[in-house]
Amino acid sequence: MRTQVVIIGSGPSGLLLGQLLTKAGISNILLDRVDQDYILGRVRAGVLEWGTVNLLEDVGVSDRMHAEGLPHDGYLLAFDGRDHRIDLHALTGKRVMVYGQTELTRDLIEARAASGETSIYSAEKVQPHDFDGEKPFVTYEKDGVTHRIDCDFIAGCDGFHGVSRKSVPEKSIKTFEKVYPFGWLGILADIPPLEELVYANHPRGFALCSMRSPTRSRYYIQCELDDKIENWSDDRFFDELRRRLPAHHAEAMVTGPSFEKSIAPLRSFVAEPMRFGRMFLVGDAAHIVPPTGAKGLNLAASDVHYLFEGLREYYGEKSSAGIDVYSQRALQRVWKSVRFSWHMTTLMHRFPDTGDFGQKIQEAELDYLVQSQAASTAMAENYVGLPY
Ligand code: FAD
Ligand code: DHB
Repeated sequence: MRTQVVIIGSGPSGLLLGQLLTKAGISNILLDRVDQDYILGRVRAGVLEWGTVNLLEDVGVSDRMHAEGLPHDGYLLAFDGRDHRIDLHALTGKRVMVYGQTELTRDLIEARAASGETSIYSAEKVQPHDFDGEKPFVTYEKDGVTHRIDCDFIAGCDGFHGVSRKSVPEKSIKTFEKVYPFGWLGILADIPPLEELVYANHPRGFALCSMRSPTRSRYYIQCELDDKIENWSDDRFFDELRRRLPAHHAEAMVTGPSFEKSIAPLRSFVAEPMRFGRMFLVGDAAHIVPPTGAKGLNLAASDVHYLFEGLREYYGEKSSAGIDVYSQRALQRVWKSVRFSWHMTTLMHRFPDTGDFGQKIQEAELDYLVQSQAASTAMAENYVGLPY
């Protein structure tokens, strides 16, 4: 088999890149090691920057998002028993869209199926080869048979645990990492959410009230890294969540049985560079941010934008200028989001080693932040997404 671009990974970055390439007439084959049901069963991000919304519009995959997604003009920062609204729209002229990663992925998978481009799911032992030279190729196994796809470029969109980054010789890559000493326990429940997202700082730990639709809530609480979901009945979860919220939210909250419950560790990670000859790393394959501030999926989308621009230039104008600056352009934006996610995580969570002093410092910073239009604007600008 031969194609112009092999895309490894059918998460949001691989699917979005595939749609952009297909629309531009650039052939591509997409490979994933798991099947579509598994991919659609993963519960992950929930908030889209408007730049991500615009990209989905560009590829013609935005009808359901605009019909069912929830545009949000602001969110609440809760601390010290009170809360304050960060008015995103008043501060920046922009808003965000609450639309689950699962739904976005479903829309992209359906659009790809309709486009007729080849996708290979449940592909085993996917391996990129010879990306340092002029003739890269990718091999995989399916039903016990080994296949080879020759290509011009490989897009490594295969997430943090994927094979692409791992295939790069250690001496060619530098990684930066920070692991946080806590996790997030998250639940999904078919109960009406609070009116807006609430990010809560509390001496007992961080809490986040989010949503997926007017009838589906997504709630998170900071937990111990080695905690187990078996320790958390729904009643215990909601009791703890309400204790971390200002009284009026705790009283307004509707509770009900959860149908998904999971614990995620928090990590900041960046790999540099993001290009190795004819292979590019995209999205979580190159970087991870802690979820506070909802940047992971949105960063994947901005990487895709830069890479697509480069590939379009390469095929359309016979110029490698765009792919040559891909890594540099992407990393500039990546580090700004890494900084923002680290800062929001540091500001909102209870750290085991900072004690009551740390709590007071956080409350002072939050109080300053909500009193100062300049500080609120800086936070809002980052939250709605920095320009591409
Ligand atoms: P992924 O979505 O990870 O997709 C990678 C794809 O590659 C997968 O389908 C995988 O099966 C495939 N793959 C992996 N290895 C191979 C291989 N060897 N061969 C072939 N295919 C392979 N972000 C937020 O903004 N808010 C959140 O609340 C949030 N919650 C999260 C919770 C969890 C548990 C995780 C893991 C992430 C969360 N994120 C969140 C981050 C966000 O979901 C990611 O940033 C986003 O999924 C990145 O998309 P991606 O396409 O780059 O990678
Ligand atoms: C969600 C996750 C986040 O990390 C965040 O900052 C906002 C919302 C969510 O899953 O809904």
